[in-house]
Amino acid sequence: MGRSVRLALNALLGLTVAMSVVVDSHAQDKKITLGFAQVGAESAWRTANTVSVKQAAKDAGINLKFSDAQQKQENQIRAIRSYIAQKVDVIAFSPVVESGWEPVLEEAKKAHIPVVLTDRNIDVKDKSLYVTMIGSDFLEEGRRAGRWLEETYKNNPGPINIAELQGTVGSAPANDRHSGLMEIIKNDPKFKIIASQSGDFTLAGGKQVMEAFAKTYGKQINVVYAHNDDMALGAIQAMEEAGMKPGTDVKVVSFDATKGGFQAMIAGKINVDVECSPLLGPQLMSAVKDIVAGKTLPKRIVTNETVFPMNVAAQVLPQRKY
Ligand code: AHR
Repeated sequence: MGRSVRLALNALLGLTVAMSVVVDSHAQDKKITLGFAQVGAESAWRTANTVSVKQAAKDAGINLKFSDAQQKQENQIRAIRSYIAQKVDVIAFSPVVESGWEPVLEEAKKAHIPVVLTDRNIDVKDKSLYVTMIGSDFLEEGRRAGRWLEETYKNNPGPINIAELQGTVGSAPANDRHSGLMEIIKNDPKFKIIASQSGDFTLAGGKQVMEAFAKTYGKQINVVYAHNDDMALGAIQAMEEAGMKPGTDVKVVSFDATKGGFQAMIAGKINVDVECSPLLGPQLMSAVKDIVAGKTLPKRIVTNETVFPMNVAAQVLPQRKY
């Protein structure tokens, strides 16, 4: 082989090596794309959750595609399908309701796109349809509220009539906060749920349902068990308009522990707020990175939470982040 041919071959080889180094570093630097299908914007909790997810994606250098399903499962399914078509690296979603997810999750699985559940769980037999579920233990939240009621009314023979404002029908927090309460009070006949209806986790929904409860049951109601702060705040408005005294005549039990909930506790209108944290963004982004890096994750990542009775509200409010 002549010298000039050898030189040309060496140059070509050098070029190929240099090109492969560039390609490899591009592969490493390639931004992860996450498709996130949010429930909607129904509550202060949800707003804080959306802010947390968007901020955490920015901080983690993850390219976020975000959609708002306006509390409709069909919109969420459509969003997930579009993420599959766009070949995102990971799909995450906070399921509006628990059932009906198999077909779209099978499609994601076939496309080899890992799925992460955040905030709300789903009811599927095949657990391989998602990698992990990050969020609160709603059943335990319901038990915590039930235990607070037991303790509060331990010296009261009853009857203790409860009006329940349920969250979105078929959603995990509505199902579990109801079941958790029932688990605790079912063997104590003095507690009775005399009315139960969905206010769809919104302030307007809570107000509307409470107006009807106030008309039908009035002074018979001892406790309002609202599945979130927005509904509790709506119910407080309705009770006050009906001449009832929330927090004193009627005890108000709520969930989320938002700043709005804390302010109502300080005003003496919510008696206890069971915490449910929306600040799931950082955990979600670190799970997404781990999945892309091929790491194994636990099937369930539970958020650490507590219960705030009204007497601690003034002291705790300054530290609340949502
Ligand atoms: O899934 C979490 C629940 O959804 C929160 O309790 C509620 O405020 C929200 O809308």
